[in-house]
Amino acid sequence: RRHSSGSESEPEEDPSSSEEEEEQEQDPEKSSGSAVNAAEKAEEGVGKAEAEQPPAAPSAPVPQAAPSRAPCQPAVFIPVDRTPEIQEARLKLPILAEEQVVMEAINENPIVIICGETGSGKTTQVPQFLYEAGYASSNSTIGITEPRRVAAVSMSQRVAKEMNLSHREVSYQIRYEGNVTDETKIKFMTDGVLLKEIQKDFLLSKYKVIIIDEAHERSMFTDILIGLLSRIVPLRHKKGLPLKLIIMSATLRVEDFTDNTRLFSVKPPVIQVDARQFPVTVHFNKKTPLDDYSGECFRKVCKIHRMLPAGGILVFLTGQAEVHSLCRRLRKAFPYQKNNSAGGEDDKEDSVEEIRKFKKSRKRRKVLALPKIDLNSYSVVPVDEGDEDRDIDSDDDAAGSDLDLDLGDGDSGEDEKSDSSLPLFVLPLYSLLAPEKQAKVFRSPPAGTRLCVVATNVAETSLTIPGIKYVVDCGKVKRRFYDRITGVSSFRVTWISQASADQRAGRAGRTEPGHCYRLYSSAVFMDFEKFSAPEITKRPVEDLILQMKALNIEKVINFPFPTPPPTEALAAAEELLIALGALKEPPTTGRLKEQLAAKLSCPISPLGRVMATFPVAPRYAKMLALSRQHDCLPYTITIVSAMTVRELFEEFDRPAVSEEEAAQLKGKRARFLQMQKVWAGQGPMQKLGDLMVMLGAVGACEYAGCTRSFCEENGLRYKAMLEIRRLRGQLTTAVNSVCADAGLYVDPKMKPPTEAQVTYLRQIVLAGLGDHLARRIQAEELLDDKWKNAYKTALLEDPVFIHPSSVLFKELPEFVVYQEIVETTKMYMKGVSAVEPEWIPALLPPYCHFGKPLENPPPSYCPGTGRVLCHRPSVFYRVGWQLPAVEVD
Ligand code: CDP
Ligand code: MG
Repeated sequence: RRHSSGSESEPEEDPSSSEEEEEQEQDPEKSSGSAVNAAEKAEEGVGKAEAEQPPAAPSAPVPQAAPSRAPCQPAVFIPVDRTPEIQEARLKLPILAEEQVVMEAINENPIVIICGETGSGKTTQVPQFLYEAGYASSNSTIGITEPRRVAAVSMSQRVAKEMNLSHREVSYQIRYEGNVTDETKIKFMTDGVLLKEIQKDFLLSKYKVIIIDEAHERSMFTDILIGLLSRIVPLRHKKGLPLKLIIMSATLRVEDFTDNTRLFSVKPPVIQVDARQFPVTVHFNKKTPLDDYSGECFRKVCKIHRMLPAGGILVFLTGQAEVHSLCRRLRKAFPYQKNNSAGGEDDKEDSVEEIRKFKKSRKRRKVLALPKIDLNSYSVVPVDEGDEDRDIDSDDDAAGSDLDLDLGDGDSGEDEKSDSSLPLFVLPLYSLLAPEKQAKVFRSPPAGTRLCVVATNVAETSLTIPGIKYVVDCGKVKRRFYDRITGVSSFRVTWISQASADQRAGRAGRTEPGHCYRLYSSAVFMDFEKFSAPEITKRPVEDLILQMKALNIEKVINFPFPTPPPTEALAAAEELLIALGALKEPPTTGRLKEQLAAKLSCPISPLGRVMATFPVAPRYAKMLALSRQHDCLPYTITIVSAMTVRELFEEFDRPAVSEEEAAQLKGKRARFLQMQKVWAGQGPMQKLGDLMVMLGAVGACEYAGCTRSFCEENGLRYKAMLEIRRLRGQLTTAVNSVCADAGLYVDPKMKPPTEAQVTYLRQIVLAGLGDHLARRIQAEELLDDKWKNAYKTALLEDPVFIHPSSVLFKELPEFVVYQEIVETTKMYMKGVSAVEPEWIPALLPPYCHFGKPLENPPPSYCPGTGRVLCHRPSVFYRVGWQLPAVEVD
């Protein structure tokens, strides 16, 4: 069995890609009394209903509340005091013409779908219609979910402004942040936040209406919310407290929702809002540049700015770093003084600070004692507060190189300096940008300038920027790819879908006829896939399954997914969660088939409930759950944050463009290697390996004040360090909200862990990354030279190696756990940490077979003698590891 190829040959993308990251981890909050109640209701509502259904029977949906003619909401009109300008602007929005149709449909149907071009006014106006119709009266709230945090924040601000209400009444809640009050009438939130609320109150009793916005994005949590709400709506109807569900989407295919009888027994009405879209002329490039789409964007913007009439320019790039780099280039070419000082803080240099020595010399003990972390010590004191969504995202990317290409349209390279007198008002826009900075794009640019917004995918459908006449579309998006087998994910820049390209083009025709410049040929466009597949079908779902299990939805296979994930993905998730101890083991008696059926319906364990409260992936959540012992939490939080943020360290391997740069890179590399050794410590400290390096790097960087200069001098990525700082804060808040008595705070000047703590941390990491265990093939076991210095993992047939950048590259410990495997010239493990063999049976019992060695070992079995074979049919069996015999009670 080869690893990846799955994702290589069938590109899998992540529609929420620019939101990216580790974010994806889960969320919520349970294990509290109220959560358990909610979960019981969930059982009643979803779990049981589903459990009674045979898996193969797609029908028998829970009866949807029949379309009731008795509107649930009073015939009232709550006046809103809008300014004349706002009123005028609203009247221009296409959805205003449909207000009556929309409201009648909502009053008469429990579930309504509204489709409309981006910018037609769905997000800003539908909540206002509902408010005016009294859906926020008598202490209830109108809830709107967004897959992107950017949209939740900026839309709440916009609607508050339009309605002349304060943020106390029109509020937002995103992962760890929000301004919701008791007076909140309209609440914008990310989909993860609502999912978490469902875990606390399954019936969502404080809402009279829930709007699921941007459903076309098909984010995993949006999909799951629609599945849950398809059950909650009829339950609320039965209780005589009707809940309205409105699904809003750009004009993309909605059949996955409407024609899904498992989801909705009665087909919900679809209201199509005709957008007043001006014609957009699409210009394709004759040739498609290979890599340098960023440089090509620069040239195209220069050309538009010099030659074409007034009108804003919107550029689509793939990631934060690219956005900033293009912004810098454009600002330099068409300087706008004020803007440069106001918007250019990303370029500012921090004062140089002394590098401090992080590690102090300390006594080394030779023997590694065996302090064992206690697998049963994960209890936390639940509290009722806290609702975060799980999307920890970082919007980073590989920056585009700046080669000059002749594009065949007579525009081969631009001078960086321009003589154009009109300044360009350049603004970046991406999901992690601070909300105040994001808001700038909605304001008119200063007089005498042209607006140019350089954005990631967030500008595709979530946000409509006024005054855009020209769109420059690089045709790429940064997506997350998952390896089917190893579950390893990576971000890659790939082509967008045709639907996305059309959405992007549409952004140019909101206020007047516009132009879209596609930096690729029409032939390439024809090769794009039509739509991006839903996220849920493309990624490992263990975080989702854990959240569902926390809702007591045990038979996840019967859940009414708008598009179900592949059964193998569900089975793999279930298996991993069982192995992590998050789910109760299935019964091992009974026939195999029943066993398998039971496997996909294992209930959550107490440990699983704790894990589900942390907004990170289950493997990392387990580490956090085990870390209250021996004061390890601050370190685990840091390690998990660092593992979650990718590319901590600068890339020194890139080809240098000049000799000067080559020398610089060489120096940097030498310096970095030296630092790496320091950060990893020595002796026992070093056995935590690359994770110790991460810990040391963060510790040293924070100690030095986390300055840009410190990072540059030591080969750290400044942006990554800032992101880690942010995540540490968020995870600390999450831990504090679960463990009321933990009283943790983020100590920037974190002391290095003691040697004993490092040992505990290694065990904690092993307990979390258990399925990523690898064993070095010993000299006497060598069958073939390609296995020299190679490791065998549970998941791959092929040899894997410790990455040369690892501090353990030369150490070659017998057992290691790795964070991920990347394939370049060879298959390399990154994020490696050494493991003592005798820990494995104690800390990973689910992976071990305690008994006699196998009589018929599988082909990949490594011959050995006399020791107990440690295996598990599904995973370790393929590896045939031998471990010392241990007594386990
Ligand atoms: O949701 P949909 O894409 O249908 O439209 P919307 O987000 O409700 O946007 C309606 C209009 O409000 C657009 O023309 C936006 O430019 C404008 N808007 C704005 O001016 N400022 C904001 N902060 C948000 C939206
Ligand atoms: Mg919208």
